[in-house]
Amino acid sequence: MSFDEEIRIRTAHCNDVILKFLPLEEGYAKEVIEAMNYSVNAGGKRLRPMFIYETNKMYCGRPEICEPFMAAIEMIHTYSLVHDDLPEMDNDEYRRGRKTTHAVYGQGMAVLAGDGLLNFGYETAIRAFEAADNAEETENIAQALLLLAANAGIYGMVGGQCADLVSENEKIDDSTLLYIHKHKTACMIESGLQIGAILAGAPSEEVRNLGRIGEDIGIAFQIQDDILDVEGNIEELGKTIGKDAVEGKNTYVSIHGIENAKADVRKRTDEALKLFDGLSVKNDFLRELMIKLVERTN
Ligand code: IPE
Ligand code: IPE
Ligand code: MG
Ligand code: MG
Ligand code: MG
Repeated sequence: MSFDEEIRIRTAHCNDVILKFLPLEEGYAKEVIEAMNYSVNAGGKRLRPMFIYETNKMYCGRPEICEPFMAAIEMIHTYSLVHDDLPEMDNDEYRRGRKTTHAVYGQGMAVLAGDGLLNFGYETAIRAFEAADNAEETENIAQALLLLAANAGIYGMVGGQCADLVSENEKIDDSTLLYIHKHKTACMIESGLQIGAILAGAPSEEVRNLGRIGEDIGIAFQIQDDILDVEGNIEELGKTIGKDAVEGKNTYVSIHGIENAKADVRKRTDEALKLFDGLSVKNDFLRELMIKLVERTN
């Protein structure tokens, strides 16, 4: 089977899992639920749930426990995109090949859709407790929940988004840029890789290393996102190109130049692969996926 085919099958699996947990579009909250589902159903690479699934499999976890987390992380990630696109943030009209949520439903409803996805995300993850069979699984779920919340919150993604926003049209140093990339993007990727392993009861040393791998892969992922904003193709990317410069964003490309950016994506990925090869268990698909992300065009 080709790697593209493998990706297609795994993305479809993630979509099936996410679909199982989406709220029904009915009742007095119908409008906001429609707006929530609109952005989730728009697609996307499903990387974060894929990471959870793959590391869970590596350490022989149970799907009943990891599936609520797969859906939850995608809901939380999607909320971050809905809010990121708002006029007062990045002011974007296209996302995942469609009009953004605020462009279709209005800004008020887009704020609520993000709020809805964030809360429903946690509500969904908490459902994993219903599938726990013993005290150890219960404890693993509690640990995974804490990690999910911490990496999405003020000391994680929200913190990164804050620094990104206040840095617009300001001159920033290297360490601020690194803070932004690590927090707004790498934290959610790190937690994806770690949550799957934690839920399967992986040794803490392995979980720690998965965190370091996620940090490198996540920062490389955001550098590549910055590169694609300059060199990407709107059809493949599904979002508008050239917006970072228009919005006065500090990006890896604006600060370090495109060639250094490309070299650093490769360097961080190589570091991550070295650590990945040191883990006690292998996952050829995940390894290949990390390599493919270096050259991604969407
Ligand atoms: C977009 O994330 C936001 C960043 C962190 C760069 P993705 O590139 O994973 O977006 P989707 O989920 O595939 O749409
Ligand atoms: C956003 O980074 C990261 C999030 C937490 C949503 P960007 O603002 O660069 O992501 P895109 O380019 O809009 O997808
Ligand atoms: Mg942004
Ligand atoms: Mg943006
Ligand atoms: Mg971007």
